[in-house]
Amino acid sequence: MAIPKSFIEELVARSDIVEVVSDYVQLTKRSGSNMFGLCPFHSEKTPSFSVSPDKQIYHCFGCGKGGGVIGFIMEIENLPYRDAVAFLARRAGLEVPEDEKSPEERSRRARLLELNRRAARYFYSVLSTPRGAAAVEYINSRRLTPKTVKAFGIGAAPDEWTALSDAMCAEGFTESELLEAGLAKKGRNGGIYDVFRNRLVFPVIDVRGSVIGFSGRILGEGEPKYLNTPDTPVFTKSRNLFALNIAKRTKRGMLILAEGNVDVVMLHQAGFDCAVASLGTSLTAEQARLMSRYTKDVVIAYDSDAAGVKAAQRAIGLLEPAGLKVRVLKIPDAKDPDEFIKTKGPEAFELLLERSENQVDYRIDAVRARYDLETDDGRLGFLGEVTDLLASLPGAVEREIYSRKVAELIGVSPEAVQSEVRRAARRRASGERRRTEREAMRPEAAFQPRDRSLRYDNVASAAAEEGLIGYIMADPSLLRDTEDLSPEDFSSKYLGEIFRELRSRFSRHEDMSPGVILSTLGAEEAARLSAILQKPVSLGNAAGAIADYIDRIKTEGLKTGENRDLLAVRDKLKQKKGLGG
Ligand code: UTP
Ligand code: MN
Repeated sequence: MAIPKSFIEELVARSDIVEVVSDYVQLTKRSGSNMFGLCPFHSEKTPSFSVSPDKQIYHCFGCGKGGGVIGFIMEIENLPYRDAVAFLARRAGLEVPEDEKSPEERSRRARLLELNRRAARYFYSVLSTPRGAAAVEYINSRRLTPKTVKAFGIGAAPDEWTALSDAMCAEGFTESELLEAGLAKKGRNGGIYDVFRNRLVFPVIDVRGSVIGFSGRILGEGEPKYLNTPDTPVFTKSRNLFALNIAKRTKRGMLILAEGNVDVVMLHQAGFDCAVASLGTSLTAEQARLMSRYTKDVVIAYDSDAAGVKAAQRAIGLLEPAGLKVRVLKIPDAKDPDEFIKTKGPEAFELLLERSENQVDYRIDAVRARYDLETDDGRLGFLGEVTDLLASLPGAVEREIYSRKVAELIGVSPEAVQSEVRRAARRRASGERRRTEREAMRPEAAFQPRDRSLRYDNVASAAAEEGLIGYIMADPSLLRDTEDLSPEDFSSKYLGEIFRELRSRFSRHEDMSPGVILSTLGAEEAARLSAILQKPVSLGNAAGAIADYIDRIKTEGLKTGENRDLLAVRDKLKQKKGLGG
C-alpha cells in the first residue's frame, strides 16, 4: 500500500529541515537566508553544505547532493524511502498510515518496540539514581565517558527482582508484554521477575532507530558475563549488528567488526565510529549481507586470542561471499581493541588500521624496487617519489614513522625526509584547496548525473527550462503565464516532468512547497532540482523573464529535427517583419 500523498505533505510540513539537519550537522547562519555547515556526505574543511529554511531543502555545493527532508534522512541514515518516512514520522510523533502486516500484528509489534524504548529510557535514568551507583562505578572503571554512555543509551538494571517490571507496568504495559519482549520471566509463584538485574545494559538499536533488544553485562567478574534478549517478535539476533545504527553513518568508508560490545563502544569513543559487533553469536551470513548494504570494506578486529583468530577465519568465509573486501587486524600486545586503545591510544589504533588499509610498507617497497639505492641518482629519484606517497598519508604519526623508515633506507637524516614530506604535503593541500574552490564556484559542475535522462541535450534550452522552473517554484502563480507551454516542449524530459507535476499540483490546489516536490523525486533528480533552486530569482520582473524563457524554449525546440525547416520560415518572416517595421 502506498503512503498517501497527504501524509507525506503533513510529514514534510511537521519536519523542519533545519531542525532535522541540525541533529547531524552544525549549522550557522551566513549569507542570505541559507544556513551552512560541513557536508555530512563528503569530507571537507570549509562548509559548502547549505540548508534553506524557507524552501525547506538542502544542497551541497561541494558534492552536489541535495533534496528535501525525506531525501536527507534517506541519505544520512542510509534508509529506503519508506523507512525514512517511518523514521521522520516517529520523530514528528505521527503514525504512518500503512503496512502490509495485519493491524493486530502491527500494533503488537509497535507496543513491544515502545516497551523497549521505555525500558531503555528507564535503564538510562537509573544511572543518575543511587540504585545505579554500582553501574556508574563500573562504567568509570571501564573508562567510558558520559558522552559515550549517552550516545549508546547505556543504562543500568538495578539489583532488584522487579524494578523494571514495576516501572513498565506503571507506564501501562502488561506482564504478558514484558514476557513477550524478553524483559521478564515467569516466576514459580506465578508472578514475573526481571531478566536484567544488576547489570550494565546496552540497548540494541536497529538501523531504523528502534530499540529491539538488550545486552546486559555483569558488573565485574562472574557468569554469565552477558545476558541477551532472546529472539522476540521484534528481535532476531542473527539479523542485527550492535551499533550499526551509528556506524552506518560513518564517513570512513568501512566497517570495523569487533567481537565485544565493550570493544565497539570503546572504538566509537576513540573516534572509530564505524565499529559494529555481532550480538553474542558468531557472525551469520545475514549479518554479512547486512554489512554489505552499507560498505564494501570490512576490517575484522577480533580478540587476539586463538579463539579470536579462529572466529576471524570463519567470518572471512561469510563476508567475502557477501561481496565484501576483508582485512584482518592483528592487535599486538593486547587482548582486544578495547585494551589496545586503553594502553596504546587511538592514534596507535589508527595506525594499525591505516597500515592494513594503505599497505604503506608494501607501497614503499614497490617504489623502492624501481630505483637503485646504491647510486645518488637512484636515492634522489626514490626520495622524490616516496615523499609524495608519504604526504598522502592522512595522519601525522604515520607520516613521521614512515619518514624515519625511508630515511634509514637511503641513509639520510629523518629531518631531511620529513621536511621534504612537509613540502609535498603543502603542494597537495594547495592543489586541493584550489580544486574545492573551483567546485564551489560552479555548483553544478561537480554534479555529474549518472542517469542519462538527466543530461541536457540542448543546453541553451535547458538553461531556460531551469530558469522557468526556478521562478515557478518561487511563485507558483506564475504558472498562469505558461499556458501555451506544454511539458513536451521541454528539451529535458526530466524538467518537463517536473513542469507537468507542478502544473497538476497547481490545478488541484495541492502543496507545491519545494520540500514536498523534492520528496517526490529520486536522489539524482532531487539533487539536480535543489541545485536549480539555489539560483536567486527576482520576482520583480518575473513576467518578463517567464516570457523570455518560454520564447527561448520554443525557439530551441524548433531547431530540432523536422522542425528545422519551420524555423527557417519563421526567421524569414521575422526578418520581413523587421524590415517592414
Ligand atoms: P567478550 O567476552 O569478548 O566480551 O565477548 P566483551 O564485550 O569484550 O567484554 P569485556 O571487554 O570482557 O568486558 C564478546 C561478545 O560475546 C557476547 C557478547 O555480545 C560480548 O560482547 N557474549 C559473551 C555473550 O553473549 N555471552 C557471554 O556470556 C559472553
Ligand atoms: Mn572482549
